[in-house]
Amino acid sequence: MNKELWALKGNLVWAEKAGEMSMLPGGYILMEGEEIKGVCDKLPEDYADARVEDYGDSIITPSFSDMHLHAPQYPMMGMAMDLQLLEWLQNYAFPMEANYAREDFARLTYKKLAKELISRGTTRVCIFSSLHRKATNILMDELEAAGITGYAGKVNMDRNGGVNLQETTEESARETRLWLEENKDRKLVKPMLTPRFIPSCTDELMEELGKIAKENPDLPTQSHLSENLEEIEWVKQLHPDCTHYYQAYEKYGLWKDGTVMAHCVYCDEKERKAMKDAGVWAIHCPDSNTNIASGIAPIRIMLQEGIKVAMGSDVAGGAKLSMPEAATDAVRVSRLRWLFSGKKEDFLTVADVLYLITGAGQEYFGAKPGFGAGDKLHAVVLDDSDLAYNPFITLDRRLERIFYQFSPACVKAVYSVGVKRI
Ligand code: GUN
Ligand code: FE
Repeated sequence: MNKELWALKGNLVWAEKAGEMSMLPGGYILMEGEEIKGVCDKLPEDYADARVEDYGDSIITPSFSDMHLHAPQYPMMGMAMDLQLLEWLQNYAFPMEANYAREDFARLTYKKLAKELISRGTTRVCIFSSLHRKATNILMDELEAAGITGYAGKVNMDRNGGVNLQETTEESARETRLWLEENKDRKLVKPMLTPRFIPSCTDELMEELGKIAKENPDLPTQSHLSENLEEIEWVKQLHPDCTHYYQAYEKYGLWKDGTVMAHCVYCDEKERKAMKDAGVWAIHCPDSNTNIASGIAPIRIMLQEGIKVAMGSDVAGGAKLSMPEAATDAVRVSRLRWLFSGKKEDFLTVADVLYLITGAGQEYFGAKPGFGAGDKLHAVVLDDSDLAYNPFITLDRRLERIFYQFSPACVKAVYSVGVKRI
């Protein structure tokens, strides 16, 4: 059966690379069913009778990817921001996550989280669950029901979890294998291996996870890397044979193409080279890095070195779910690095961060950055008509203003996998 030809019309803005903003005012995204056929400034003849979803003067960009967040921490967003990582985990995050042994609580929380994500234009995620297998399945169900795609992970942690948030090594490996089996046929939200971080996983568990990764070559891994100085010191004590944090993942075969590492605040030249050589992605989470005083990641340097970078909200180290807010936070903290480097280290621009919250995630998930022909449509329609009337500004400045003043009210429509969800 022929699929319907249809089109979206609006001011198209996208970024195929960091720093390269492309614009097509009054442009069309040509569609066939769920799939993009191309973009153009005039409807071609075969689209003469096509249905056009006309968004007038609104801006259409690819939808957003949140490449690192903790679903179970959603109810504690904005709490305990006076602590640093290790105390914050022990006193707040871990006790919160222990509650997800309760499936009714997980259902309630994850339904609301999924709704909030999609209503803010996020259609792709790499998301941590808790160590609970059943609650993780509930998270995957609720994300899919809302139209969110990507990867979710049942967390592995067999040490240092405190009361009620720890598995035995055997249990962690067994539950992970069972969970992978239960979710092998999922289409929208797929499983991802998720050792919490090195202090949470014994060598024996890491070995098991390495085996699981080897048995499942398409199963990617997500974790945390070089976020906080005390954490890094702790990892050194746990793995005295490793000069660098990343080697504790590398030892077990988890440092490889498509591995996603959140934060990377303190990655030195050697660790960054190892990222580039292996094809490991750095996920920049500036709100979290500021809130729990972790530091400022050298993102401009990483981009210059050709490291793959994307962005995450890191809720609930981060206290904001909207990726445009993460984007402007990335600009803000990079401005501070610029200033404190004696204006030597370049800062990030809106064109850089537009790529980091759209094109980078598209690339990670195998799509072309922008509106690539052959890809399923993932797009967000952004409206600035409720902001102060200002008819004097260009399209790129309009996008900047929406990002800096972002609220869900700016989101007029969201498309995920070719389907309108909002
Ligand atoms: N490192 C290990 N677990 C966590 C977490 O939940 N949040 C953050 N920000 N860092 C972590
Ligand atoms: Fe995190």
